[in-house]
Amino acid sequence: MPSSTPLIALKGVSFQHADESVTANKLDFELYSGQSVAISGINGSGKSTLLSLIMGLRSVSSGEVHLFGHSCRTEADFSRFRTRIGMVFQDPDDQLFCPTVIEDVCFGPLNQGLTRTDAIVRARKILKQLNVSHLENKITYQLSGGQKRVVALASVLAMKPEILLLDEPTNDLDPENTRRLIDILKELSLPMILICHDANICAQLVDKEYQLTLGTMVALP
Ligand SMILES: Nc1ncnc2c1ncn2[C@@H]1O[C@H](COP(=O)(O)OP(=O)(O)OP(=O)(O)O)[C@@H](O)[C@H]1O
Ligand SMILES: [Mg+2]
Repeated sequence: MPSSTPLIALKGVSFQHADESVTANKLDFELYSGQSVAISGINGSGKSTLLSLIMGLRSVSSGEVHLFGHSCRTEADFSRFRTRIGMVFQDPDDQLFCPTVIEDVCFGPLNQGLTRTDAIVRARKILKQLNVSHLENKITYQLSGGQKRVVALASVLAMKPEILLLDEPTNDLDPENTRRLIDILKELSLPMILICHDANICAQLVDKEYQLTLGTMVALP
């Protein structure tokens, strides 16, 4: 295991939803620079919830979340660091909220302080890379499921994140788009947490696999 400070560390994290379903139980996890990991687990085991805890979108019941070596407790703590982490939500409708595709993909770069012209240049570049330039002026909510997923990914990559958290990113994608996504992720070579049920995809993208079981992370051989 690398000796440097982890990019993401969960220390004894516990969390349960209001209905008392436990998704994390004194869970420990670390993601280091240069590392990409996959998390699998049965439906409802808490994978998506875990990503939301890392991003500070939900608050841990106990334990600590560290991002880039900093302990994060408050919204102010998380907001300092979450802009450096690109999260693709399991449901693209949670990610996309602008009227058109180009506005959605420009939103992050504009928030990062880019001029409108520079944001459009960056957005068009990533849409081209993902082979969806033709969707630029489409109404976002009228896109197909697979198109929405590619646009959601584009909106995250346009922010040039340092870490990727991808929640079942290949759901709805046809074989060609799946292949393209895998190639792009390989080329980006960013530290990554990939939630994915497809062993073949995991094998191509990550160096370590975990299973989320009864609220704890079990490393797979
Ligand atoms: N907002 C919520 N309020 C109450 N319970 C919730 C909420 N979101 C999720 N849960 C519950 O928490 C548990 C974990 O849900 P989560 O979405 O994290 O699972 P998952 O492992 O991502 O599942 P899937 O493989 O189906 O995506 C489930 O039992 C779910 O019903
Ligand atoms: Mg999920």
